[in-house]
Amino acid sequence: MTDRVVEIAAALRLAARRFGTPVAVTDVRELVAAAAAVRAAFPDPWLRAYSVKANDVAAIVARVADLGFDANVVSRGEWAIARRAGVATGRTSIEGVGKSDGDLRAVVRAARDGDPPRWLAIESLDEAAALVRIAREGIGGGSLAVLFRLNPEVAPETHHGLAVGSGGSKFGMTADEVTAAVEVVAGAPGLAPRGIHLHVGSQLRAIDAWRDGARRALALLALVRGSRPGFDTLDLGGGFPVLPATESGPDVARFAALLPAMLEAIPADRRPARLAIEPGRALVARAGYLVARVLHVRDRDGRQVIVDAGMTELIRPALYGAHHAVEALTSLGRPVATVGPAALSPARVEGPICESTDHLGEHGLPALRRGDLVAIRDAGAYAASLASTYNGRPRPAQLLLEPDGRLTVGRRRGTLAGLG
Ligand SMILES: Cc1ncc(COP(=O)(O)O)c(C=O)c1O
Repeated sequence: MTDRVVEIAAALRLAARRFGTPVAVTDVRELVAAAAAVRAAFPDPWLRAYSVKANDVAAIVARVADLGFDANVVSRGEWAIARRAGVATGRTSIEGVGKSDGDLRAVVRAARDGDPPRWLAIESLDEAAALVRIAREGIGGGSLAVLFRLNPEVAPETHHGLAVGSGGSKFGMTADEVTAAVEVVAGAPGLAPRGIHLHVGSQLRAIDAWRDGARRALALLALVRGSRPGFDTLDLGGGFPVLPATESGPDVARFAALLPAMLEAIPADRRPARLAIEPGRALVARAGYLVARVLHVRDRDGRQVIVDAGMTELIRPALYGAHHAVEALTSLGRPVATVGPAALSPARVEGPICESTDHLGEHGLPALRRGDLVAIRDAGAYAASLASTYNGRPRPAQLLLEPDGRLTVGRRRGTLAGLG
């Protein structure tokens, strides 16, 4: 065990003692390291927007913003969280699979008032027509940049639930629909077609689909740019993986390294002038720990351990069969300092929720009894933002483990009064 691991384990035990369980802890040092890796792969002038859906705790959005990231949001709710986290609307891009007239009106109003988002990405011809109608009604002298989400029709190397860039998925438009939507939007006052938005999928295990998607988007952008020089922006989305130790995958730099050759292959005046990414998981996943307490241990064709965190705090195992390492912080009431493989034996770890899919997988764990503590790893992405209060469970406290070792409160635990 490295000093750092020992330090984090002690902080997680302290978090459980002081704030109760389950409790979520974000290691700010890890956040800083992850942000530095993404920034190094995609340095300025790349536009880097944090995909707020990955972790929408305002205190964490604010930290990520401090580390050189703008915001990418999918709803008025996430937009409000980004603003609360200190990200100006001009540094926020707005997308979303389905936008109501109310959503579009809020964006058009911001443009009218001289405070437009960096851009709005639209998803369909219906949405283009609705946006044009709403802009005619109320954009006044304002101006709004519009991106068009392309479905790249590739085969993302990921769980089918995350393969949003496969043809036939509900995400984005075909190339023909994009060109048609550009014409629709271009005819409206105050709306400026500016480029293409893409997201191939999340947790990509290889770079091929991302490369194919980027190539298709660049070709389409070059085509449209021929007649519209202002169509100059390509947003490549997120998708950079954070995998369990048992799996290997490309790091963020390998995705970035694909771009120069692809850009070179396009005539200079048809290349995008602005390039953007919107990573989520790559920034926040590793930094997150979910600390849970053992409720009971019993024999059910092997050891079964029920803990007090489950799908309400971390739904990914139930939703996608995702694997998150579970490690003991205490064993039979004592802090775990060094537990060698010999002391570990298999255990099926289960959450406390009344659903049989509330299952956290098989793990090698030391002797455990009621009251012991475990840490669920890599729980910083798609955990808090996908959490629910199902079974009448208030949201856990969100803590930050500061670089100087202090624990600070990012969001207080929910209350019983706040339920129902
Ligand atoms: C459009 C879009 N951009 C960015 C992201 C962030 O993806 P990731 O967390 O895999 O980086 C997502 C995730 O679903 C997305 O749908």
